[in-house]
Amino acid sequence: MTSTGTAELVIVANRLPVDRVVEADGSLHWRRSPGGLVSAMEPVMKLHGGAWVGWPGSADDVIEPFEEDGLQLIPISLSASEVEEFYEGFSNGTLWPLYHDVVAKPEFHREWWDSYVTVNRRFAEKAAEVAAPHAMVWVHDYQLQLVPQMLRDLRPDLRIGFFLHIPFPPAELFQQLPWRRQVLEGLLGADIVGFQLPGGAQNFVRLVRQRVGFKTHRDTVYLPDGRLVRAASYPISIDTADFEALARSVTVTERAAAIREALGNPKRVILGVDRLDYTKGIYPRLRAYAELVADGVFDVEDTVFVQVATPSRERVEQYRRLRDEIDRLVGRVNGDLGEIGRPAISYLHSSYPREEMAALYRAADIMMVTPYRDGMNLVAKEYVACRYDNDGALVLSEFAGAAFELSQSWLVNPYDINGMKAALVEAASAEPKELTRRMKAMRKTVIEKDVASWASGFLDDLTTIRPVHRRRVRR
Ligand code: G6P
Repeated sequence: MTSTGTAELVIVANRLPVDRVVEADGSLHWRRSPGGLVSAMEPVMKLHGGAWVGWPGSADDVIEPFEEDGLQLIPISLSASEVEEFYEGFSNGTLWPLYHDVVAKPEFHREWWDSYVTVNRRFAEKAAEVAAPHAMVWVHDYQLQLVPQMLRDLRPDLRIGFFLHIPFPPAELFQQLPWRRQVLEGLLGADIVGFQLPGGAQNFVRLVRQRVGFKTHRDTVYLPDGRLVRAASYPISIDTADFEALARSVTVTERAAAIREALGNPKRVILGVDRLDYTKGIYPRLRAYAELVADGVFDVEDTVFVQVATPSRERVEQYRRLRDEIDRLVGRVNGDLGEIGRPAISYLHSSYPREEMAALYRAADIMMVTPYRDGMNLVAKEYVACRYDNDGALVLSEFAGAAFELSQSWLVNPYDINGMKAALVEAASAEPKELTRRMKAMRKTVIEKDVASWASGFLDDLTTIRPVHRRRVRR
């Protein structure tokens, strides 16, 4: 395929970095999605005349490419059955639970796989069309693992990078996937396959050796045609300065005070913020807290738990079930332990703008991030970014990628309720000096390693990697 495209840098992700907003008067426009990825990419995209290929988020939307805020956006349309089979099905009913330690049981359906192949091909063809000769293409996440090889077949001149935002599982679990070899071969189309943690990269290299039979050495895979593929870790981060500036603003400061006031000015606010997902460990966290209230360690007069759960993937069965479970637990805890005007848990099933999140982080004395498994978890980093006066305690699951860098948090095992109770009590009674010591160290990390350094780290490696290695390697 010869190139007619002009974009020197192409981002390929399941979602476009904008959300469609319908105003009260019925008019339509696009608003930049919250995530840090787009703000990190924006300067490089503008510099290189970049394009972003992605799905606008609803079924049967056929939208022409458009420009928003100087970014060239290329929508990919999914039919209603593709939303069901590719997005809700294979991506979120098969890969998501499989890659998260099988916290829920993955379902394997051949029609879902077929749809995954079809949709991945559509993304690859579009990227091949818009990329300039020898351009860089950066493919993101588990929904698009076949794109690197499909794209390489169409456009061998490109430099292709892939980054997986979620964990890459150990061979023992990955092996369950009936299409394991196809997925590995899909990823091997990239020059660099990036993971959140070194463990993910190691799992991948080991699987390639075992399942595809290619020679590997440390982080490098040697393909029979002489090409090399590098597997390495690039822990993602947030726009730290931006979050801190937001947290310091007058509006957010006032809003944080108003939140505490509305909660009855308690001595202690504990906070959880998650997409409503079964990997996030919301249930055991609320139970640990509720038991401490029932045990008389915390009193609802002076302690409150605020749990924000953002609606997510609501048509997938496992997510519906989780919502019911959390509703039931919160109802029972508040019924048993709450008092008039003093619920033990203030539960919000809603999504909020960044300003409100920053105000919540400012209002919280203790932040609980307790996933059973998580690629990184940016909420933990956002909380740290907002604690500019070096106070506040972070209770963090050792199974979140963030635990790798934020080792000065109170690390917990979410499967161990007693352990979580002990950590929560310790965090709640820590001396200010201890809080400062821990928070300072964590802040240093998120200030030094922000999303811009993450993106440039990956792209610099992709730029300097030798694209094709003619030397044949004996297997
Ligand atoms: C995780 C995934 C992303 C995904 C996001 C929201 O962070 O790694 O790829 O976009 O969840 O999920 P959704 O299904 O709404 O896109």
